[in-house]
Order: sequence, then C-alpha cells, then structure tokens
Amino acid sequence: MSRLAILGGEPVATIPDGDMFKWPIVNKEMEEAVLDVLRNGAMSGTGITKQFESEFAKWNGVKYALGHCSGTASLCAAFFALGLKRGDEVICPSLTYWASAVPAMGLGVTVSFCDIDPKTLCVDPVDLEKRITPATRAVVAVHYCSYPAPMDEIMAVARRHGLKVIEDVSHAQGGFYKGRKLGTIGDVGAMSLMTAKSFAVGEAGMLVTNDREIYERAILWGHYERASELTLPGIAEYKGLPCGGQKCRMHQMSSAVGLVQLKKYDRECAEIDEAMRYFWSLLADLPFDPHIPPDPGSTKAGWYCAKGIYDEEAMGGLSLSYFIDAVRAEGGSRFHAGCNSALHTHPLFWKFDVYGDGKPANYAFRAPDLPGPLTAEEDFPHSFHACNKVFNVPWFRHFRKDYIDAQAAAVRKVYENRRELLATDPKERVLGALAQSRRNG
Ligand SMILES: Cc1ncc(COP(=O)(O)O)c(C=O)c1O
Repeated sequence: MSRLAILGGEPVATIPDGDMFKWPIVNKEMEEAVLDVLRNGAMSGTGITKQFESEFAKWNGVKYALGHCSGTASLCAAFFALGLKRGDEVICPSLTYWASAVPAMGLGVTVSFCDIDPKTLCVDPVDLEKRITPATRAVVAVHYCSYPAPMDEIMAVARRHGLKVIEDVSHAQGGFYKGRKLGTIGDVGAMSLMTAKSFAVGEAGMLVTNDREIYERAILWGHYERASELTLPGIAEYKGLPCGGQKCRMHQMSSAVGLVQLKKYDRECAEIDEAMRYFWSLLADLPFDPHIPPDPGSTKAGWYCAKGIYDEEAMGGLSLSYFIDAVRAEGGSRFHAGCNSALHTHPLFWKFDVYGDGKPANYAFRAPDLPGPLTAEEDFPHSFHACNKVFNVPWFRHFRKDYIDAQAAAVRKVYENRRELLATDPKERVLGALAQSRRNG
C-alpha cells in the first residue's frame, strides 16, 4: 500500500466531483414553475401552496399538510397546535438542531432534554422515560441525520404517560420506520424543507397530521388568510387574525419547486440509497458503524447528512480528527468529523431571561418543586460526546461506481496504514502536511 497522502504520499481519490454533490437537482420543469410564479406575481398567494400541500399529504398518506415559511415556524405551530402552554414541559433529545425545541419556549413551555442512543443518534426511549416529570406534556422525536427514531418504543412511553408526540422530520422526509412514513406515526410531524435538506425547496417547512384539531389550531396560529378552513368550535370564532401573531405562509416559489420535487424525489432518493449502500458495502469489513437502521421496512430516504460512527478503540487509539484529516488528504474532501453540539449545556436553557420575567425564560413558569435544569456534560453523555464519535461521509447524490470506489479506497488506505499514522510524530505530520500543500499548489 502506498504511503499516506497526509505523510507525503500520493492521494488515491482523484476523480473530480463534477455534479456529484449538486443539490437539489434543478430541472427545466422546476425552473419554469418558479418563473411562472414570478411572472404571475404569485409569490405571496396560497393557491400553489395548497396544491403542494395536497400532493405532499397524499405522498405521506395523511389527511392534512400545512405549508410554512420555515421548519422552525412549522415546529412552533405544532407546539401551539398540541395545546402546550405555560408551565408545561416538552422533552427533546439534546443532540439536535435548536429548532426542534426552542420555539416551545416562546409559549412559556420548559424545554428539557433526554439523551440519545449512541447507535441510532436518536432519542433513547429508556432515558426519555426517566426524564418525565408531572409537567411533561410532549416529546419531540427527531429522526436525526435521516435515521428513523425508535417510534414503537417512543410511542409506548408516550402512551404510558399521556404525552403527545411531535416528529421532527427535517432530516428524513420520505423515510420509513418499519413500513410507516416518518412524520405520520406521532400526533404531528413538522419539518424543514430548506435548501440543505434532502427534500429541498428553499426556505420552507411543512406540518403533517391526521388530526383536524391540530391542523386547525396550526392555521389559527399563523395563517390568518385561511379563515375559511376553520370550522371547529373554540377555533372558528377566532378566525381572521393569526392568534399567535405569526405570519407563517410558504413563499410560493418554494411551493412551486416542491410540486416538481415531489414528482422526482423518490426516484432521486432511490439512487442516493443505492450509492450510499454500495459505499458502505465496500467498507463492511472495517470497524465503522454505517448508521443504517436494521429493521426491515426502515429506510433513510435521502440520507440527509449521512454519518458514520467511529470506534477509536477498534482503530487502535487513532483519534477521529486525525483519521478524518488523513482521509481528506487522500481526496475525501467530503468527510468531516462531528455533528450538532449537545443543546443542554447552552445557557439559553438555564440562564437567559429572554422575556423579562425576572428569571430564565426556560424556567419562568415552571413549578418550583420540579427538577431544575440539567446542564453538566455528563447529564446526557452520549449527546455531549457524539461530536467526537460521529463523522460525515460523502453524501453521494448519484450512483457512480468509480467515484464511490475511490472514496472508499481513501478510507481503506487510512485504515490499513493506521499504525503508521499512530506512530507519526507531530513533526512528521507537519512535514507531510507541507508536502501536501506544496503538491496542491
Ligand atoms: C432537526 C431540525 N429541525 C428543525 C430545523 C429548522 O428548520 P428551518 O431551518 O427550515 O427553520 C432544522 C434545520 O434547519 C433541523 O435540522
């Protein structure tokens, strides 16, 4: 095996990326759909959004879909729609993007956390159950980095304790958990459709549910212009104004993109799935966990932010960051160490008096006899340490065998030379890096 590139050898992955990572895939129909919205001055209407909602609901097999201007707005609407109010508590995994939970704070709800399972990177249902207090009303199940959260166990905990379940599907649109579409298993699904996501339409979000009351309350929160859809007693009487003081409707250029995206998304995901599975099959004998759900009928759909899980011990003590540096030097520029930082140590959740209540906003309405914030690293150790154990692998959008072979070869070369890498003293590392930067010009 040739010398590692990080130590001055030749890199193995030299095939240019081309359009391998270009996303979303924009076709003529998409361009025309956007231009039509622009030419018709229809950016702020709801007609196209309603068509998109109807198709999106069909695709998910739910009764209702409600378009939003962002995933954050759809989550906020979901918290209100479930009836969460001051003094209530919602539990969410500490390892997620902030919008899975922070919008609930604006309702006077305490955001508290549970740990993740280090294998799934999603809610650990056992830890979740331990964190429930008399104020807990809801749990957010995040399908983190396209991995379906263990919904059977989460739903069982929720049923035992009378909790509502919000699925945050921002990372996993179109994925399945044991044959059921993600977002349709809990009471309500909410998700981002922003450009970096696998279902990418621009700044946008979607709420999905089978529950008419949740749907109407979400409309009441931030869609004043849809008054005619409000029919239920206790809701319809407030039509005409957005009762949350929010304006949440989706930009119709996004809705137009979404309508076209729906026609081709499953096909594109199938190619991504083939490419990603092929990549991992090439490394099956190496000690990396490919973060693939084992259950039949569970899928990662678009493989958003595809991860691998690193085992430093199995790598003889080689640190994740040095491993990734070495793979990148081999031409694996899409490999990165890390993931979201754990939320629970952030002072927003235990210190900041956002709304001038004279106490931290997250605890402003909490009964004094309930447990206080858990802020130590070791309170949710798997969430806290995930960033040292998890790495991004290339998120292939196309099945191109040669390219994928070369990326896998970069990993294999580093693995096979790990002892040499471990033995490398810092001086030689610097010299190797210098040699490489000279080669790169
Ligand atoms: C898990 C998760 N939830 C919610 C959001 C919020 O969505 P948006 O950025 O569209 O507001 C994001 C990311 O953007 C996310 O990653």
